[in-house]
Amino acid sequence: MAATILILNGPNLNLLGTREPDIYGRETLETIEAACRNRAADLDMDVDFRQSNDEGQLVTWIQEAPKSHAGIVINAGAYTHTSVALLDALSAIDLPIIEVHLSNIHRREEFRHHSFVSKAADGMICGLGGQGYELALEALAKRLKN
Ligand code: DQA
Repeated sequence: MAATILILNGPNLNLLGTREPDIYGRETLETIEAACRNRAADLDMDVDFRQSNDEGQLVTWIQEAPKSHAGIVINAGAYTHTSVALLDALSAIDLPIIEVHLSNIHRREEFRHHSFVSKAADGMICGLGGQGYELALEALAKRLKN
């Protein structure tokens, strides 16, 4: 059976396409999801692609992930920089985790330079737009094979 990867998107990522296009580009979350599905199929994996503006919902999804998922790709949006609850949930499970950001958070405001998610992630990709999600899937595919 193909491994299923949980791809989690946090607050405001549902607005991609019209949200600050100079920073995030014109790609929508639907386009990113479609690209992830294609890439996952090439890698013999399935994706379960979700978005929520709600921190508690993201925590619940992370807690449930080990039941049916082999790894997590997470773009926690602004919760990246604020959420100890997300860090605790990610630390509580034993799955490979790749953190993704569309923008290069280190080139932006100081408050975006710190990530709670990074403390629980195996790796982090930022600044490459939607391509970062596909690269994260590739990294997970390799890890799961080894
Ligand atoms: C983001 C970066 C965060 O700082 C911001 O709050 C987002 C999107 C990114 O993908 O570049 O919502 O995670």
